Amino acid sequence: MADKIDKKPSGLEDVVVCEQDICYIDGKRGQLVYHGYDIDDLCDHSTFEEVAYLLWNGKLPNQAELTAFHDSLFDAMTVPDAVFDVMRLLPKNTDAMRVLATAVSVLGTFDPQADDMSPEANRAKSLRLTAQMPMLTTAWYHISQGREPQPVTNPARGIAYNFLRTLTGEEPDNYTVRTFDVALILHADHELNASTFSGRVTAGTLSDLHSAVVAAINTLKGPLHGGANEAVMKMLRDIGEVDKAEAYVQNMVANKQKVMGFGHRVYKAKDPRAVILEEMSEELSKRTGDTKWFDMSRKVEATFQPYVAAKGIYPNVDFYSASTYHMMGIPDDIFTPIFACSRVIGWTAHIMQQYQNNRIFRPSSDYDGPQNLKWSPIEQRS
Ligand code: SDX
Repeated sequence: MADKIDKKPSGLEDVVVCEQDICYIDGKRGQLVYHGYDIDDLCDHSTFEEVAYLLWNGKLPNQAELTAFHDSLFDAMTVPDAVFDVMRLLPKNTDAMRVLATAVSVLGTFDPQADDMSPEANRAKSLRLTAQMPMLTTAWYHISQGREPQPVTNPARGIAYNFLRTLTGEEPDNYTVRTFDVALILHADHELNASTFSGRVTAGTLSDLHSAVVAAINTLKGPLHGGANEAVMKMLRDIGEVDKAEAYVQNMVANKQKVMGFGHRVYKAKDPRAVILEEMSEELSKRTGDTKWFDMSRKVEATFQPYVAAKGIYPNVDFYSASTYHMMGIPDDIFTPIFACSRVIGWTAHIMQQYQNNRIFRPSSDYDGPQNLKWSPIEQRS
């Protein structure tokens, strides 16, 4: 057989697989746009719920539309007890993203519209998953520690508030709620990233919406994608102290190790989400007085950046989200499920558009294996 050519796979770089009007990214300028609205504008003025409406409907809601949307979303903030029963059966040390994928699959078995592929049913299922996944995430945090899930006490306060309230069992302060709300806006969509593409591929076979979201959750789990935020926090903990960051990073560079939270297939400038998360992390560090994690992150960036700027490698969304979530009191192992709780908006927006204008995805490959070999009996094989 010809020596295998050690060619770096393309990873579908720059390959256009669909048209969509949901999200635009300018990688050179570091710009992110949801249906025409710049992410900075949405973070300054909007809420996660309003952005969800925008991504699904292609326009910002008027007051009547937003009120009706809120009511339907908050009414859906319930999870069948049987789903929690299944979660209680799982080993307590199960990865939270594996639990989330499992729980969403189980939700599909209880959803009366699971196999209804009408646009109305898909919209209703998208809304239910958006309301339920945050509750699945905080429920697992408690179940994994042998406690009962915290009940939703005030659905009308919205997803950010109810996530924090059901996570800690305590009343979250308004600044933390707003910071978390902005973090959810920042993670809501990002064009054809790996997990969204995975959801589209699954939807492209006309499999149902729950199945497409489960595919997306399992894709986001990887440390090269959504799992990077937990990997960044692990790195910061490994570094331990601010004054050890420089030597730690220089050692990673010397060993040609990838620094998690840096680099992006599209951005060749600083990820605009990282810019906002950095500001939030700095503000939280001042408000909490716990400046270690922000200072350490800044030191990692200052040390690493000069080595890789020429390659267009900058901090991405996962780098400063780690310290931001940590300072909001969020446990490391639910950082990535939080990413999924936000990105379910983008996934379902793309999945619904895939259903509306679908052709099954079936790329090709260059075959570089042998040809015309003859079968031989096993006793004749060397
Ligand atoms: C997300 O696509 C999206 O939009 C994703 C996302 C979203 O919102 O959905 O933005 C969310 O997934 C952000 C990325 C989170 N992942 C990480 O932080 C993991 C670390 N980053 C890398 O693994 C990498 O940068 C990727 C996976 C993000 C991008 O991979 P690419 O585009 O395939 O780039 P590559 O691996 O081919 O790297 C190109 C060069 C290589 O060097 P050479 O072999 O050319 O010499 O850049 C180097 C890489 O070694 N490089 C890094 C690096 N990232 C790339 N070197 C050190 N540290 C890094 N983090």
